[in-house]
Amino acid sequence: MTTQAERKLIHVIPSQPTSDGAGVKLRRSLGSQRGLHVDPFLMLDEFYSDNPDDYLAGFPAHPHRGFETVTYMLDGHMRHEDHLGNRGDLGPGGVQWMTAARGIIHSEMPQQTAGRMRGFQLWINLPSREKMKPAGYRDIPATEIPLVPLPGGGRVKVIAGSYAADGREVQGPVNGAGHKLSTEPLYLDVQLPAGAEFVAAVTPGHNAFLYVYEGAAKVGPQDQALPHRAAGVLSDSGNVRVRAGADGASFLLLAAKPLHEPVVQYGPFVMNTREEIEQALADYRDGKLAA
Ligand code: FE2
Repeated sequence: MTTQAERKLIHVIPSQPTSDGAGVKLRRSLGSQRGLHVDPFLMLDEFYSDNPDDYLAGFPAHPHRGFETVTYMLDGHMRHEDHLGNRGDLGPGGVQWMTAARGIIHSEMPQQTAGRMRGFQLWINLPSREKMKPAGYRDIPATEIPLVPLPGGGRVKVIAGSYAADGREVQGPVNGAGHKLSTEPLYLDVQLPAGAEFVAAVTPGHNAFLYVYEGAAKVGPQDQALPHRAAGVLSDSGNVRVRAGADGASFLLLAAKPLHEPVVQYGPFVMNTREEIEQALADYRDGKLAA
């Protein structure tokens, strides 16, 4: 296989309707099948509703330990508050990159009583040596996310990592040169008009998947169909090529360096061993999760 090879679609994970928090309706693709991850990605939820009953309950105070949560809003407003005193308003096109690590207790509550709420929450695992580091939190407004027009129409938003366009590297606000996260995530949001094609280089050996949130796409050298609202897991080397269907396509491209470590998950705690999970539960119970 040459470096010009294209990644194939090796697995499709349809999204399942579910709810989380105090009853927010979601569609979960990655993470909906127990044990099926795209290392180091653990979960991808899409929330999308015009009905306030589906989102008003929000996500009252809850803990996390051992990984990162990345919330990307397309429509609507949510407010984040955590035990460290961070407060952030998440608005359309904005991203919240939260490194729970040792522990964070936070709430994510809608700041609207009508209208559309739409976005994604992604969970990215941390390597064992970073699971107990201090928590970190970053609010990234839409204005800090580079938008690259594509020659055939459409555009790419570079949230994390970089995208090569016209011979230059466009760097997103997360995982930049000199400030690489250990999983080296690439997070792109791509919109293509009908029939347009998109190609991106992804580091060989990094795991990658796509999530089509509007329209439909064909992927790789065999034009394999990836339906709307499903995660498409890609093979592990070569460029990623996506062609939009007749109604265009909007999709996320996510890639990162795998950790190759055991994953033991219990709800909002993701550690390497059962004992570490028990410790997380005990720490939460004793008020020491994030101490
Ligand atoms: Fe959370």
